[in-house]
Amino acid sequence: MATDVKILAIESSCDETAAAVVKNGREVLSNVIYSQIDLHTLYGGVVPEIASRKHIDKINRVVEKALEDANLTLKDIDAVAVTYGPGLVGPLLVGVSAAKAIAYGAGLPIVGVHHIEGHISANYITNPQLEPPFVCLVVSGGHTHLVKVSDYGEYEILGKTSDDAAGEAFDKVARAIGLGYPGGPKIDKVSKEGNPNAMKFPRAKVGGSELDFSFSGMKSAVLNYLNTARMNNEEIVQADVAASFQQAVIDVLVGHSMAAVDMYNIDKFAIAGGVASNSGLRAAFEEACKEKKVEFFRPEPILCTDNAAMIGAAAYYEYVKGVRHGLDLNAIPNLKLGEKA
Ligand code: KG4
Ligand code: ZN
Repeated sequence: MATDVKILAIESSCDETAAAVVKNGREVLSNVIYSQIDLHTLYGGVVPEIASRKHIDKINRVVEKALEDANLTLKDIDAVAVTYGPGLVGPLLVGVSAAKAIAYGAGLPIVGVHHIEGHISANYITNPQLEPPFVCLVVSGGHTHLVKVSDYGEYEILGKTSDDAAGEAFDKVARAIGLGYPGGPKIDKVSKEGNPNAMKFPRAKVGGSELDFSFSGMKSAVLNYLNTARMNNEEIVQADVAASFQQAVIDVLVGHSMAAVDMYNIDKFAIAGGVASNSGLRAAFEEACKEKKVEFFRPEPILCTDNAAMIGAAAYYEYVKGVRHGLDLNAIPNLKLGEKA
C-alpha cells in the first residue's frame, strides 16, 4: 500500500491567516483559521497594508497550532503547500515567505497552489466520493467562475464575470442597506425575514458567452431603488431588499450553472468559494440539481470561505503528479487558473 502523504498548507491571500495539515488530500488533521474580519470591519473592507501586517503577526503561531492540533511535528510532514496567487500581493508574500522558510529549514518540498483551485478542492474533503469530471461554480469575494474540472488539476473556464464578483456585489449591497462588512453572511441572515419577490431586480445578461456573468447592473438597480425610495420618503424594508437582491443573484447563478451542465452533458455539479456558504443558494442548487438528476456537491460552510485545508487538498493532487516549486516561488497577484509557476 502507498504511504500516506501529509501536507502542511498555508493560506494568506486576503484577510484570513490559515494553516492546516491534510492527509492524502481528503482527510483534515487540523484546520486553523485566524480571521482578521473584525479589524477590517472598521474600514468597511479589507485594507491590504493592515492585512499584511496582521498576517506577519499571526502566521508563526497559526502554523504551530496547525501542527499541534494534528499532533505532529515537521518531521512527520511530506511537503509544505502555499497559496501563491491570485490575491493581495502583500498578504500572499507573507504566506509564500513563511512556506519557503519552513520548507528550507525542514528540508521539505514546496507545492504552490492556485487559490481558486483550493476553493474547488474543498469539495474533495467534504465529499470523499467526488471525482472529476464535474462542473464547479466558484463564487467568492474576488471571483465568479464556472469551471469544468476535467481531471485533478485540469480546468476549463466556461464562464466568468465581466465586472463585479458575486461576493463583491453582496458586500456592496450590504453596505448600501446599512448592514456593514462582510455583507454576504449578513444578507444571508436578514433575507430569511424578507420577501424575495418584493422587488424585481434585473437578472442581467451580458453579450459574449451565455455562461458569462454581470453583477454591476443588479447592484446599480438596488442603489437606484434605494435612492428613489429615500427621495420619495418611502419606507425601505431592509429584509425585503436583501431577500430580493439575494434571489436575483441566486436565479442568475443557478440558471447559468444548469445551462453549463446541459451544454457539457455532465452529471456532477459542485459549488465553491465564500458565497457558496449562502443558505439560499445551497437550497436552490439542491432543488435544481435534484430536478435535473444531477449529483450536487458542496463543501461544508467552514471550508467555503478562505482556509488552508482546501489548499492542502489541492496540493496533494499536484504533489502526487510530481509538481514541486523551488525557493524562487513568488507571489503572483493575478495568477490565472491553469497557469503554472
Ligand atoms: O472565498 P472567500 O472567503 O474569499 C475570497 O477568496 O474572496 O469569499 C469571501 C466572500 C465575501 O464577499 C463574503 O461576503 C462572501 O464571500 N460570503 C457570503 C456568505 N459568506 C461569505 N456571501 C453570501 N452568503 C454568505 N453566507
Ligand atoms: Zn477565497
